[in-house]
Amino acid sequence: MKIIQAENYDQMSHIAANYISAQITLKPDCVLGLATGSSPVGTYQQLIRQYQAGDLDFSEVSSINLDEYRGLSPENDQSYRYFMDTNLFNHVNIDKNRTYVPDGLEPDSHKACRDYDAIIRTHGSIDLQLLGLGNNGHIGFNEPADTFAKGTHCVDLTPSTIQANARFFASMDEVPKQAYTMGIQSIMQAKKILVIVSGTAKAGIVKEAFTGPVTPQVPASILQLHPDVTVVADKDALSLL
Ligand code: F6R
Repeated sequence: MKIIQAENYDQMSHIAANYISAQITLKPDCVLGLATGSSPVGTYQQLIRQYQAGDLDFSEVSSINLDEYRGLSPENDQSYRYFMDTNLFNHVNIDKNRTYVPDGLEPDSHKACRDYDAIIRTHGSIDLQLLGLGNNGHIGFNEPADTFAKGTHCVDLTPSTIQANARFFASMDEVPKQAYTMGIQSIMQAKKILVIVSGTAKAGIVKEAFTGPVTPQVPASILQLHPDVTVVADKDALSLL
C-alpha cells in the first residue's frame, strides 16, 4: 500500500485526478469504479477541468459506481445517479449508456444485486477503483460486519452512516436506511485501487484501517491485502499515522 500525503483537500483532489487521468490516457477504454460523497467532488472537478482543457477524453470509458440508496429514483437529487450526473457525467464526453449505478428503484433486492453483479462480470475486472473511506471504515456501503460480503448486496445502513448522511437531507426521516452496494470481492478484484481521504475526523479510522488488523469489523482494512492500493490523504487525515 502506497500512502501519498497531500497538504489539503485541493491538493489531494489534484493528485487523485492526475492518477485517474493517467489511467484514461494509458487505456482509453478503461473501466473506472467510481464513488460518491464529499471526498471525490474536488477530484471530479479537476477531471472536468482537464476535459475542458482538451487533455482528457472519456468517450471510450465505462464506469461502474459502488452504490445507490434503495428506494431513490435517478431524478432524486440525493440519489447517487443524480450525484454522478451532476458532479461528473454531465460535464464530460462519457457515453452515459456505459455508466452504471445500481438500480435504486428495483424493489426486488435479489434481482437488483444479481443484475449489478452481471454488469460487473460483463466488464471483466475494474481497471481503477476509486474509494472514499467511511467514518466507521466502510468502503462502498460495506458496513462493519462479522464477515466480508462478496457480491452486490442490500445493506441496512448503520446508525453512524445514517447520521453521517443526514447532512444532505432535509430531515432525519428522509435519510434512506438501506442501500445496494458492490461487494468486497468485486472491489478487491479491481486491478488498481485509489483511496482518497481528508480531514481530522478520519484520522482515527485511517490509522485503524491501514495499520490495524484485517477484519470485517473495519471493512477497509482488507485493502491491506490488495497488491496495488494508493491512498492519497491530506495531512489532517494522516495526522495519527
Ligand atoms: C460513496 C461511498 C462511501 C463513501 C464514504 C465516505 O459512494 O461508497 O463509502 O465513500 O462514506 O464518504 P465521504 O467522502 O462523504 O466522507
